[in-house]
Amino acid sequence: MITKITRKTENFVYETLKEAEGGHDWWHIQRVRNLAMNIGAKENADLFVVELGALLHDIADSKFHGGDEEIGPRTAREFLQQQKLESALIGHIEQIVRHISFKGEKHKQAFRSKELDVIQDADRLDALGAIGIARAFNYGGHAGRLIYKPTVKPQKNMNREEYKNNTSPTINHFYEKLLLLKERMNTPTGKSLAEHRHQYMVNFLEEFFGEWDGER
Ligand code: ADP
Ligand code: NI
Repeated sequence: MITKITRKTENFVYETLKEAEGGHDWWHIQRVRNLAMNIGAKENADLFVVELGALLHDIADSKFHGGDEEIGPRTAREFLQQQKLESALIGHIEQIVRHISFKGEKHKQAFRSKELDVIQDADRLDALGAIGIARAFNYGGHAGRLIYKPTVKPQKNMNREEYKNNTSPTINHFYEKLLLLKERMNTPTGKSLAEHRHQYMVNFLEEFFGEWDGER
């Protein structure tokens, strides 16, 4: 059910992100929202929270705001307060926005809920499969990276700084991140969708290297 608040949130997010770069634009939000609603229904999550959380999850990415990790949760909270939602609900969605892009480093994720699990799965799934491949090469082109360079080997286990400064070819990103995501899904529904998208990327890479070597 689309409520008045959902509509207002949708408008707010659309207006804020309509000029954003291709990987995090309005259509990423729309895909994550649809996927999260689909997963959330199967996982019996609170779909009102899932929809608002998915809509607001990238409202202000720290990458584009000088590393300020609080700007996203703050923007979401301020918007929801104007809508006069219950404070527990606002607090929950604020926590979702704060913890959505947990990078799985040494420390444990400090907040979890079923709704966050669902939205996080949807966000990760949008980096996989056909869409994930399109986004990766779009990002690589935007950042001036090569498609592939055989002499530059993928580097796993980079720290946050190395990951940020890494300028390796886009194919390496599959080995450094995308192929690892299927092991990090939270919900059974998310895991099974990830399996399919993962296999699609594995097939893509096999085809890619076959063509690269002139074998097909
Ligand atoms: P998040 O959604 O966790 O903020 P990112 O901003 O890192 O993810 O990535 C957004 C999109 O750009 C994803 O689809 C991701 O795979 C892609 N991307 C990020 N870094 C790279 C990279 N080094 N090479 C290719 N694609 C990338
Ligand atoms: Ni996202």
